Amino acid sequence: MSFTIKQVLKESTETLSNKLVCPKNICRMDSEHFLMHVLKVNRSFLYMSENSKLSTENLNQYNLLLKQRLLGRPFAQILGSQQFYKSDFFVDENVLIPRSETEIIIPEIIKSGDYIYNERESLTLIDAGTGTGCIGISLALERNKWNILLLEKELKSLHILNSNLERFQLSNCYIIFSDWLSSISNDFADIIVSNPPYIDKSKDVIDEYVKKFEPSSALYADGDGLSEIKKIIKNSKRVLKKEGLLFLEIGYKQSENVISILRKNYYKDIKTILDYNGIKRFIVARHT
Ligand SMILES: C[S@@+](CC[C@H](N)C(=O)[O-])C[C@H]1O[C@@H](n2cnc3c(N)ncnc32)[C@H](O)[C@@H]1O
Repeated sequence: MSFTIKQVLKESTETLSNKLVCPKNICRMDSEHFLMHVLKVNRSFLYMSENSKLSTENLNQYNLLLKQRLLGRPFAQILGSQQFYKSDFFVDENVLIPRSETEIIIPEIIKSGDYIYNERESLTLIDAGTGTGCIGISLALERNKWNILLLEKELKSLHILNSNLERFQLSNCYIIFSDWLSSISNDFADIIVSNPPYIDKSKDVIDEYVKKFEPSSALYADGDGLSEIKKIIKNSKRVLKKEGLLFLEIGYKQSENVISILRKNYYKDIKTILDYNGIKRFIVARHT
């Protein structure tokens, strides 16, 4: 039996939204993306050809993708890539899928970094806990004179990190495997940015599919979710040059605690940056 594009999209949208308890518009978008991927066409082609029949081979490929999505596997993992800032990044189950709220930090860092670069005529930046490399690589693509270190502890992320680095042919970006900043010398960096694990292990606040499919080493931290943030703040004090900047992504309602840790470690010029939902998502602080 053969089906038209229109029928397939209608049916899979229904199935996804019933099974995953997900809004219909999102399920429709997922269905369309899968079909665009299988047919190697854009969205307007799908709409213009909605009465065309799918070949058995294409239908089988489509059903394989849909089956994985019905198990709750994130869309980006199924297709193997995720858009972040201005580029597409490879992802797999060993790295956190880049989130859109993290993108807001890129223009902020560029603004501050340009100022530092103009004064010092060089700039070294560390992306600590780089995962896919999305933060560091996005910055390296925007500013090819900055030296950028992509720092990660989990060796299992090497494959994806390397693939992303190769994809963009960058000559100003280097990978370092290290437990946070332990292998970096004193007074080394002008800027450190980190989106560390910050979800409180003791509270079950996380979406069941995130929990099931994304690496726990990228998500959870002890001590109200603050243990890794504390380590980074303390170590950054040693690794940052004087007047250097620390940009930290933080969790919901963590800003007061993080500001207090920064103050105890004598950082200055502390400010918060809101995400698209008005949540305090990043904290910036300056080494004294
Ligand atoms: C929340 S993910 C962020 C990934 C990526 N920077 C992003 O924004 O999508 C946290 C990252 O920190 C890494 N990580 C966790 N503990 C670490 C440690 N002790 N040293 C270095 N990296 C660590 C994890 O493996 C993970 O890649």
